[in-house]
Amino acid sequence: MSTPLLGASEAELRRDRTSVKWVAYPPDVLPLWVAEMDAAPCPAVVDAVSAAVRRGDTGYGWGPRYAAAVAGYAQETWGWEIDTAAAMIVPDVMIGAAELLRLLTDEGGPVVVSPPVYDSFFGFVDAIGRRRVDAPLTGEGRLDPEALRTAFRAATAGGRRAAYLLCNPQNPTGTVHSPAELASLAALAEEHGVRVVADEIHAPVVYADGPAFTPYLTVPGAERGFSVFSPSKGWNLAGLKSALAMAGPGAADDFTRLHEVNTHGSSHLGAIAHVAAMADGRDWLARLVGELDDNRTLLGRLLSEHLPGVRWRVPEATYLAWLDCRDLGLGDDPARVFRDRGRVALASGRNYGPAAGRGFARLNFATSPQVLEEAVRRMASAL
Ligand SMILES: Cc1ncc(COP(=O)(O)O)c(C=O)c1O
Repeated sequence: MSTPLLGASEAELRRDRTSVKWVAYPPDVLPLWVAEMDAAPCPAVVDAVSAAVRRGDTGYGWGPRYAAAVAGYAQETWGWEIDTAAAMIVPDVMIGAAELLRLLTDEGGPVVVSPPVYDSFFGFVDAIGRRRVDAPLTGEGRLDPEALRTAFRAATAGGRRAAYLLCNPQNPTGTVHSPAELASLAALAEEHGVRVVADEIHAPVVYADGPAFTPYLTVPGAERGFSVFSPSKGWNLAGLKSALAMAGPGAADDFTRLHEVNTHGSSHLGAIAHVAAMADGRDWLARLVGELDDNRTLLGRLLSEHLPGVRWRVPEATYLAWLDCRDLGLGDDPARVFRDRGRVALASGRNYGPAAGRGFARLNFATSPQVLEEAVRRMASAL
């Protein structure tokens, strides 16, 4: 049997990792918070980046090669035909999304989001001087057409330009939005003149026993939308920056207004890593998703054994578990209690929506089964 990709011990990870997950908290706190994986690296990426550095191939990047690699991967994985002429390499997903939102809305203008959702959506909307309007998910973690309609109506009142920032699949709930849900979103957006930007960074980590990922730009009515994708989550390459912003056929004209300087922040080595991952790292990804799937099952067993009061919906995608801790009596921010009393760091639910995340915590299960067991044991000890 081959060595597991998610097999590193806590001691090895503390020795080897200097990224934020492993250094932000004191050493007696076990970190299962930010969306980084404790996985062994993909060999194709190691080879490509090491070889590039050895060759001295460390200059500026060249976008078309990256776009072609994303197009090849997307076509073979999801049957999605990307028009690389309407695509632009950008520094990372959030910077790409933020630039698109800036293009599509006015200073102080509305950007609709669906909490609970990735916390940096809130930060970036703020940072670009836009106003956030919430259209919360349903209690089942699904897009809510009524909430979207109400938010789109409020956002566009008085003829304001408005955009919707979609998280597909959704962090932190792990929801894979269905073709029908996405088509309904597209229809509502068109009806109200709201432009959609889809963040599809989590698309590579979707489990085989659930629904398949649907790229937003492939659903009817999404022609005026945008997508931003990077393999950085699937292959754990967040420190090797690059991403691709893509326009639907009805949005290509807007896209030409995105200044060419927006391509400059992408890292050439990041792009080399990502191209290698998408071209030669697909077996690695399949193995990794298999191990994550086993961890998903293990987490379910551990929670029912040690923390039966925690409710959760098994995620269809991502390596993140959205834990409803409201019955534990730990207050609005259970992650804080787990951290202070149990010495285990989860992400605070409130970061993902002040109302929708109250009493929730997000646990990252992309770690070894041993670390996961220890984490749940520590959480239980905090009760
Ligand atoms: C939904 C989502 N989008 C974007 C990011 C960050 O991506 P990037 O570093 O490419 O901006 C994350 C990171 O966890 C994420 O969960």
